[in-house]
Amino acid sequence: MLPLVILATFLKPALAARAFLNEPDTGIDRTVGDIGVGILPDLTDMVSLPDFDFAARNYLPALNYTYYRQAAGGEGSYRNNLEIFGNYRFLPRQMQDVTALNSTLPTTILGYNFSLPFFIAPASRAAYGHPKAEAGLVEAAGREGILYARSQFATLSINEVHALKAPGQVLFQQFYRAPTLEEDQANLDSIAAVGAKAVILTVDTNSYGSRQRGLRYGFDRTENRGYRNVTWEYYHTLRNMTSLPIVLKGIQNVRDAQAAVDNGVAAIYLSNHGGRQLETSPSALEVAHDIYVNAPDIYKQIEVYADGGVRYGSDILKLMAFGVRAVGLARPFMYANIYGVEGVQRAIQLLRNELSRDASNLGLADIKALNTSWIQTTRSSWVGFI
Ligand SMILES: Cc1cc2nc3c(=O)[nH]c(=O)nc-3n(C[C@H](O)[C@H](O)[C@H](O)COP(=O)(O)O)c2cc1C
Repeated sequence: MLPLVILATFLKPALAARAFLNEPDTGIDRTVGDIGVGILPDLTDMVSLPDFDFAARNYLPALNYTYYRQAAGGEGSYRNNLEIFGNYRFLPRQMQDVTALNSTLPTTILGYNFSLPFFIAPASRAAYGHPKAEAGLVEAAGREGILYARSQFATLSINEVHALKAPGQVLFQQFYRAPTLEEDQANLDSIAAVGAKAVILTVDTNSYGSRQRGLRYGFDRTENRGYRNVTWEYYHTLRNMTSLPIVLKGIQNVRDAQAAVDNGVAAIYLSNHGGRQLETSPSALEVAHDIYVNAPDIYKQIEVYADGGVRYGSDILKLMAFGVRAVGLARPFMYANIYGVEGVQRAIQLLRNELSRDASNLGLADIKALNTSWIQTTRSSWVGFI
């Protein structure tokens, strides 16, 4: 029999399937050095969004970081969200005058003006990252002119968050179905009272996802706590309970996207909840592609937003090429919030900078001119899921 140590040597390459890097190798470990728990690197060392993940993982207690980082099952959807963007190649064009590009970056979302086509997606419990909790998110969004969508389970109350708005700042409010319609009505009334401009109804959470990483820290119980009943009938009930537009968040199927159009929904939001809900659910980029292939008119009939795994300016451009109007990010901003408002602002600025550089190198004179002629949309070169 082979001694165990020799056996282990042979087995090693076989077991080391495809390595997944939590963050790509960007060289940050060389500049900030070997930092341990509780040490916060200088904000100026953060030069990309994945750097904030590195900083948060080292700085936050494991429980706090895990709350943000956790995902469902074997986390295949989480990884796919990040990696799928690499499977789409750009088709850059040269000899284009791109000098007016920056003036085309502002956009409207449900008719409201924003400086950029990306936004802060709803994420609960910002206090795990910073004592001022959501203050960093709402204030940075206000300073930079982007949309912030507050989670129903934010640490700060809806009134506290809205009290921090800059003059004229527009916020949307994420919404989960409550156990009773009376509670729903009370929630909708407080959303309208503070002046939020849209309700984002999350439709991908019939149960809390099976998040093993988080179970270890008691974020959920191992038994299922029951089901949330979110149907078209419920949507129409809700519709009659508020005058605010309702966005459906968590659409993952072209049929549901079409049903949303047929049911007169204000806008849809493609998302698999950052891979936190159903393991091996598709990324928003794949769903955006499916809609483009099977029902492209949807992009003309309704506003489409998307999130999941967006970390680079180039990711945003690929989603927009299919017809997505605005792109959300959650974890990167939660990680950046460990620095408070300055961290979130820096993350926004880094991403804006990437977006404009990438769009210009793609040869885009006008970001609104993006369409599928700027990306390869064949799937032949894909490396495969997980
Ligand atoms: C810590 C955390 C909390 C979240 N809380 C909510 C929530 O309360 N409501 C909701 O609709 N989505 C929630 N999400 C999902 C995000 O809105 C978003 O869909 C997803 O995280 C985007 O992927 P990304 O984190 O890779 O950017 C949460 C995500 C994270 C990471």
